Amino acid sequence: MIIRNTIRKIPILSKWLRVHEFAEFRRNEILSLIHISKLLNANYFPWTNSSISPTSIRLIINEIIINQRREVIEFGAGISTLHIARILKDKGGSFISVEQDRQWMDLVASYLKHEGLDEVVTQVHVPIEDTLTDNWYSLGKLEESVGSKKFDLALVDAPVSCLARPDVRTPAGEFLKTRLMEDFAVLLDDIDREGEQNIAKEWCSELNWHYRNYWPQASVGVFRPKGKVSFAVI
Ligand SMILES: C[S@@+](CC[C@H](N)C(=O)[O-])C[C@H]1O[C@@H](n2cnc3c(N)ncnc32)[C@H](O)[C@@H]1O
Repeated sequence: MIIRNTIRKIPILSKWLRVHEFAEFRRNEILSLIHISKLLNANYFPWTNSSISPTSIRLIINEIIINQRREVIEFGAGISTLHIARILKDKGGSFISVEQDRQWMDLVASYLKHEGLDEVVTQVHVPIEDTLTDNWYSLGKLEESVGSKKFDLALVDAPVSCLARPDVRTPAGEFLKTRLMEDFAVLLDDIDREGEQNIAKEWCSELNWHYRNYWPQASVGVFRPKGKVSFAVI
């Protein structure tokens, strides 16, 4: 990582590294997809450019199984909701899925019902509130839905980020900090993007979490409590 960061400072080498990393990432995506395809059923769920990457799904599933995560929250529903629910149905646990778009949430709900997974997941529709400082979920509605529950795994894959607000996911750190168990993992998806890398820097300095960037093996940054030892997930 130190060598990569040094290379990134030299424009021509940085461009070469980016191309090289994407090629490696694509290889990892294919391998992950082959691996997790064993968990897919015949009821095809659309996999689009907005969907989570297969590399991230592999890391999430590994984290749940290897580090025995059982109390899960995710921001941003989709393929991730189905995979997490399938694993938790087998292993036990509870799962809150937060979604900003009601229509999208209902589509995911129909797939959960079809697979008999609707009892594993509490889906909550929380609209985005645009304030001067943030463009995040309505805090009142979120607090009402989550209550005093604590989590050992959080996936931050929303709100939808845009060029004007690349840091929209930042408030998730502040929201989660008092709602995490003693041992936890917070997964920030899309860590190959500059916006998410800046969020990671802010969380590290504000929240004092240990951070590991898995790019390009997976496009995920993982945050854990400092000093806790956990098993390898990639
Ligand atoms: C990065 S996506 C979340 C992806 C989700 N965790 C998954 O596993 O696919 C962020 C948001 O995009 C919106 N969205 C629109 N079309 C989507 C699609 N085809 N797949 C996933 N999310 C979609 C949803 O509101 C979602 O919360």
